[in-house]
Amino acid sequence: MRIYKATDYHDMSRKAANIISAQIIMKSNCVLGLATGSTPIGIYQQLIDWYKKGDLNFDKVKTVNLDEYKGLSADNKQSYHYFMKQNLFEHINIKMDNTYLPNGMEEDSEVECTRFNNIIDLLGGIDLQLLGLGLNGHIGFNEPSEFYEKGTHCVALTQSTIDANSPLFGDGEVIPKSAYTMGIKSIMLAKKILLVVNGKNKADILKEALTGPITPMVPASILQIHNDLTIVADEEALSKIDDSLIVNG
Ligand code: F6R
Repeated sequence: MRIYKATDYHDMSRKAANIISAQIIMKSNCVLGLATGSTPIGIYQQLIDWYKKGDLNFDKVKTVNLDEYKGLSADNKQSYHYFMKQNLFEHINIKMDNTYLPNGMEEDSEVECTRFNNIIDLLGGIDLQLLGLGLNGHIGFNEPSEFYEKGTHCVALTQSTIDANSPLFGDGEVIPKSAYTMGIKSIMLAKKILLVVNGKNKADILKEALTGPITPMVPASILQIHNDLTIVADEEALSKIDDSLIVNG
């Protein structure tokens, strides 16, 4: 694992975007695994900037997202489909047919999970998976549990995740209680993983994930055994990690 320290959110976003842009430049038809949430917004803005300057071309890039709320349609403003369009896809030259997310409107979990697993397989797996870190150690929506779920599955969100997400929902909007998420096996099979973390409130869980025991109770801890894991985090998130473990520490 390689840990890079960033001075702040902007620096973290630029460093992480650099790794993603290198992937696109080296393999123009790469498969990117993408995340939503507050962490990657700055990364997407940076990628959009570089695209607008003519430095990046998304023409052949394919993307597969980690997760989607169950029960939300693609045009619901709280859906991850909508988030990805607003924060990235609408601003670059990616072909929408090359972008894949779980379908929140499919009620039959088995049907949707099988469909999504097949998509990942047909794409030939993920070249670079971008991950954020949940306050309880979740990655995608793989919540703390007694065991690791391997493939795409439907998950009941924990109260901590529902609370963390609720400020994003307006008055009267129903906060979904379940979601479809890529499983741990699909994430771990990505050739490269880029975990991006910022903020003081993530310092404890980041330390636990990177240096604690590997356990499904801290889902991100499994990343310790991935053979190509890069972490880009700001000083606050890395405040509990020894500098000797940090490449530029
Ligand atoms: C989102 C996702 C989640 C988030 C995590 C952190 O697609 O898979 O695991 O990465 O909840 O969210 P933020 O970045 O909002 O702190």
